[in-house]
Amino acid sequence: MSRQILVTSALPYANGSLHLGHIIEAVQTDVWVRFQKMQGHSCLYVCAEDTHGTPIMIRAQSEGILPEDLIARVAEEHKADYRDFLIGHDQFHSTHSPENRYFTDSMFERLQAAGHITRRSVRQAYDEKAGMFLPDRYVRGTCPTCKALDQYGDSCEACGATYTPAELIEPRSTITDTAPVWRESEHLFFALGHFEAMLREWVKSGSLQDAVRSKLDEWFDAGLQDWDISRDAPYFGFEIPGAPGKYFYVWFDAPIGYLGSFKAYCDRTGLDLNHYLRPDTATELHHFIGKDISYFHTLFWPAVLHGSGFRRPTAVHVHGFLTINGQKMSKSRGTFITARRYLDHLPAEALRYYFVAKLGAGVDDIDLSLEDFTARVNSDLVGKLVNIASRCAGFVARGGGRLAPALADATLYAEFTAAAPRLAALYEARDYSQAIRDIMALADKANQYVDANKPWALAKDPARAAEVIAVASQGINLFRVLMVYLAPVLPQMACKAAAFLGAPLARWSEIDQPLLGTPLADYEPLALRLDPKQVAALVETTGAAMATADSAPSKPLISIDDFAKLDLRTARIADASAVEGSDKLLKLTLELGETRRTVFSGIRKTYSPEALVGRHVVVVANLAPRKMRFGVSEGMVLCASDAADRLFLLGADEGVTSGLPVS
Ligand code: MSP
Ligand code: ZN
Repeated sequence: MSRQILVTSALPYANGSLHLGHIIEAVQTDVWVRFQKMQGHSCLYVCAEDTHGTPIMIRAQSEGILPEDLIARVAEEHKADYRDFLIGHDQFHSTHSPENRYFTDSMFERLQAAGHITRRSVRQAYDEKAGMFLPDRYVRGTCPTCKALDQYGDSCEACGATYTPAELIEPRSTITDTAPVWRESEHLFFALGHFEAMLREWVKSGSLQDAVRSKLDEWFDAGLQDWDISRDAPYFGFEIPGAPGKYFYVWFDAPIGYLGSFKAYCDRTGLDLNHYLRPDTATELHHFIGKDISYFHTLFWPAVLHGSGFRRPTAVHVHGFLTINGQKMSKSRGTFITARRYLDHLPAEALRYYFVAKLGAGVDDIDLSLEDFTARVNSDLVGKLVNIASRCAGFVARGGGRLAPALADATLYAEFTAAAPRLAALYEARDYSQAIRDIMALADKANQYVDANKPWALAKDPARAAEVIAVASQGINLFRVLMVYLAPVLPQMACKAAAFLGAPLARWSEIDQPLLGTPLADYEPLALRLDPKQVAALVETTGAAMATADSAPSKPLISIDDFAKLDLRTARIADASAVEGSDKLLKLTLELGETRRTVFSGIRKTYSPEALVGRHVVVVANLAPRKMRFGVSEGMVLCASDAADRLFLLGADEGVTSGLPVS
């Protein structure tokens, strides 16, 4: 039975570059979509730019341009990145579009008519200088629980407490650095609680991963809160019908953007939109997202859909976060790899392959280890897969360029095609890593077949020319089966292989018939070996790499006056000890002239306490004291990292503090 499937991945924010975390999600989705298409299903993949909200408004202001111009520019950049990673969107749209406004307005009106929208007054931080209400993240101050300084308005990084900005001690606006005032304003709320029974039933339908389901149970237990879906002007977004000066919160119209994008597709192609959206539809709706946004997709979104009279998602597929060499991507460490930076160094399909080889069906984080990446791509793609074709192609070419009229080992061929149902089930369940292991085990078998039958030895005897062709043709046919299985992952390579084989690689069912007696085109190398130097260059933290990382929005340029605010001093480490309960921190006692200070420093992985005592270091002496779980830190010891991500304590010249000449 042919299925009708609509697929989405999360809409990237239109105020920054795509990084490899975005790409792993797009690859996971794209592979699933291409796989479904190859099964003969109708499968449409839509995505869009997520364009609304305060950060985009502020970013445009700081660049001195209109938000419309910012989102248009970023959209072009994103589209080029997706294209070059071979992401096959059927529609890539924008939430700032008439289609999205249409759905946002009409769904809101339906929710309102059905009594799911309530109103009440909210007291919120207001920046008088900027003339705007401040989202929680735009207020910083001292944590009310542990008194740590300079914490966000919604939660404390030092002690983990969550609170409202009103509870912060000495709050400041991050926009103007003034103290906010508190103002009342009426907000609109979506009554999520009305949907609890429906959601509990939806969760049971079995379309969610176990880890996601347990998270939902926690949220149910905590009670479903009304959801504030409005924001006051100035705001870049859609004004709420019947509520002048109020705008839809970006997270209200963002998932609706899936439908807006699909509407644009339907308008363009004549497909019947309602067929996919009505509550009793037999079509499927699958969302691929990262774990940080599951609340929106597994609670709000099904409720908003249902409350507006539409179908609910068939499934929400949640993936974990990408780490690089075992660590969170970090701008300062140079491991914040943008999509474009990768593409400037290396081929897209190498990374697609690696991501797929590591992606399972769960929500675990996925690590891109650069060494493992190089080794895996070179051994699997070059050493195993492409090797089969490249070693057999020459024998066929020299023997007249046509494949043998019959299979030399039909049983082995049948063994390869018999793997299709299991592999299909693995792709369907997004257990890609297992699928790749199975496929590579078959690739080993194909190579063993060629090794065992030694066409190069047979070729020495002109009387055995037909055998040579037979063995090589068997190898080529096995390669073709593997290439069909990998085509969702390696679409470009599949395209080249199809040209070489003189037969399409568009459907899995094609492998039911081997290629017999047909001509082969000239063989051209299908995949190139990765150069470890090129791979290492991805994370080089010197020169241009740092310049791009540092010009990113979260770290604006600083002036010499800003820099001059730092009071840099040399200090001697008088004592150092490990901090119990932390595998990162060392407690340092520093001597700055006559005074002593305690500083907690995250260098335990690199330095043992004994190695530090007596060393002279550089300290930011006027850093506001920070209360941490283990005590108060009164300054910061400066470190730097190199291209290989190693940490270096910045040392001071000893003569400076001691006043004695250096021997
Ligand atoms: N705009 C919202 C999504 C709206 S969907 C209606 C958003 N944008 S985002 O740009 O921050 O993230 C887009 C997707 O990328 C999310 O699914 C997010 O989980 C994913 N990732 C962002 N960083 C990631 C990693 N480091 N690793 C894997 N995925 C990550 O959230
Ligand atoms: Zn705290």
